Amino acid sequence: MSYETILVEQKGAVTLITLNRPKALNALNSTVLAELTDAFAKFEADKSQGCAVLTGSGDKAFAAGADIKEMVEKSGAEFFLEDFFAGWQADIVRRTRKPWIAAVNGFALGGGCELAMMADFIIASDTAQFGQPEIKLAVAPGMGGSQRLTRAVGKAKAMDMCLTGRNMGAEEAERSGLVSRIVPADQLLDEALKTAGKIAAMPPLATMINKEMVNVAFETTLDQGLLAERRMFQILTSTEDKVEGMTAFVEKRPGVWKGK
Ligand code: HXC
Repeated sequence: MSYETILVEQKGAVTLITLNRPKALNALNSTVLAELTDAFAKFEADKSQGCAVLTGSGDKAFAAGADIKEMVEKSGAEFFLEDFFAGWQADIVRRTRKPWIAAVNGFALGGGCELAMMADFIIASDTAQFGQPEIKLAVAPGMGGSQRLTRAVGKAKAMDMCLTGRNMGAEEAERSGLVSRIVPADQLLDEALKTAGKIAAMPPLATMINKEMVNVAFETTLDQGLLAERRMFQILTSTEDKVEGMTAFVEKRPGVWKGK
């Protein structure tokens, strides 16, 4: 599949995916969804790739939301019959088992904020702006904003943002737990790729299990989560990489991972 709306590059073990509709501030239309789904499926299937970074082209936006021009003419019945946005909930972008990072380089609004929140974590430039401004269009978030934002920043901030449609700058986003760190805009991509490279060099089975277990925390009770965590830890102790990891520590050398 050749892409019209995204760019995909491999940088060693890291896949860099760039939303590439800068004139529309990387607004997310159905083509973007189909192409991202394909690119993430390829990333997931490629054994040479350990982590991905998703960013936006241009210095203004990660993505300024779902494409309003695609939605403006659509009737309510069409939205319902197409189950519009269901693809974002079901698709591989969200379900990929390998880790990926959103490198947010400007506006991440509406669907853009929601897409960033599907990442395992967000690294933001100091110019990043997050928001769920759908209320100003007389709608509401449709790709997880009301749910993931609330889990990330709590009720007070999520309500404030959804009800006023205001943006949250990078500092506030970091303070509120929405992003893991902030970097100067001109260093964002380097920092995200460096971080992704570090993750890609980790033992792959342990990486996937660590990701899965943090996500379990959002879906279960504490007791069930603790049990799942303990079982996953025990399962990982049967891998060859565990023997290598602990032996390498004792021998004061870096581990060499087999992924089994
Ligand atoms: C389509 C968009 C767009 C969007 C920007 N553009 N956002 N096109 N969908 N979400 C286009 C503009 O139309 C314009 O194209 C070009 O990008 C540059 O945008 P400007 O508005 O001229 O830039 P600026 O003045 O700098 O303002 C930046 C901005 C503003 C504050 C980010 O563009 C903005 O408010 N965008 C919409 C943000 C938003 O409401 N997002 C949520 C969408 S709804 P032209 O061709 O005119 O030059 C959503 C979920 C909906 O995500 C759920 C429904 C169920």
